[in-house]
Amino acid sequence: MSGMLKDDALKGKTIIVTGGATGLGRSMGKYFLELGANLVIASRKMEVLEKAAAELEAETGGKVLPVSCDIRKYDQIENVIAEAEAKFGSISGVLNNAAGNFISPTERLSHRAFDIVIDIVLRGTYNFTLAAGKNWINKKQAGTFLNIVTTYAWTGSGYVVPSACAKAGILSMTRSLASEWAKYNIRSNAIAPGPFPTEGAWKRLFPGEVAEQIDPLKRIPLKRFGEHQELANLAAYLMSDYSAYVNGEVVTIDGGEWVHGAGEFNGLEAVTPEMWDMLEKMRAKK
Ligand code: HXC
Ligand code: NAP
Repeated sequence: MSGMLKDDALKGKTIIVTGGATGLGRSMGKYFLELGANLVIASRKMEVLEKAAAELEAETGGKVLPVSCDIRKYDQIENVIAEAEAKFGSISGVLNNAAGNFISPTERLSHRAFDIVIDIVLRGTYNFTLAAGKNWINKKQAGTFLNIVTTYAWTGSGYVVPSACAKAGILSMTRSLASEWAKYNIRSNAIAPGPFPTEGAWKRLFPGEVAEQIDPLKRIPLKRFGEHQELANLAAYLMSDYSAYVNGEVVTIDGGEWVHGAGEFNGLEAVTPEMWDMLEKMRAKK
């Protein structure tokens, strides 16, 4: 699995990635660095950020600024923006990637548990969007937002209801601002990934025997999980000037998982060739 874009596709750009020290955020950030961008990674745990920044710099030769930030706190986001500008001059893009999630029957959730996911995912994303957007508008700078949602942002999903509500809100904000802020040269797009293995997601969403019972691999027509580089390729394209005319789009990257789940007769895959032969004979007899 290799990188898709030209070597200098993001040269001169500074991109902030929330949740950029772990999982998918880190993989996308690493590819941005390989394409010449400066990277700012922001999340809650400073020791995790510092370790990731050192490793990413060693792996790519690029520049990484780690800034601790709880995206639920607007003033902490303003601090990330100020630190990023102090180090790199200006900001070109924000990848709203940080999230919180876990599985639970909804009736077992406390209102605090509902709050925590909505606050990280929806409030955190609109906080960052508002702060970065106002900054770009005030300074008459162009900018690009890329928001990570999920395929259940539009289908909904039981057992992750706070996350589904929050991701649907982000999807709506993405499309709304694509229209409203285009006049300021600010683009807004989103990616809806299916399952891409990460420690953070797997331990919360497919713990223990749950993984056997709802093996996500069985739901994916391509019979494999996504590779991080495949997602990074798409994210880098949407952050780059190659996608300058793409605005208000959400791109699904899930191996066909959600349409497979939605198609009325897709379960007929379980019918064997022998059974089809039998059905054909029965039909011929009539
Ligand atoms: C029910 C739970 C719970 C669980 C926490 N709570 N975990 N309730 N089931 N599994 C409740 C707690 O009891 C508490 O309510 C409230 O939620 C806050 O919990 P805390 O542990 O105090 O919160 P905090 O330490 O801030 O941690 C936040 C978190 C945690 C969201 C709970 O998981 C986290 O830090 N996550 C960040 C990373 C992450 O989630 N990554 C996965 C993203 S994957 P009470 O009432 O007791 O006070 C993803 C993929 C989607 O989004 C698509 C996949 C295909
Ligand atoms: P992950 O590694 O757990 O990433 C989540 C990140 O968010 C962590 O780095 C975490 O860092 C950060 N974060 C959480 N709360 C925060 C807060 N309040 N402020 C700042 N940062 C916070 O999980 P992942 O799988 O890579 O998920 C990344 C994104 O992809 C998420 O938006 C997720 O919904 C989406 N997604 C993932 C999958 C998948 O299969 N993996 C599928 C669809 C969508 P701290 O805890 O240190 O703050």
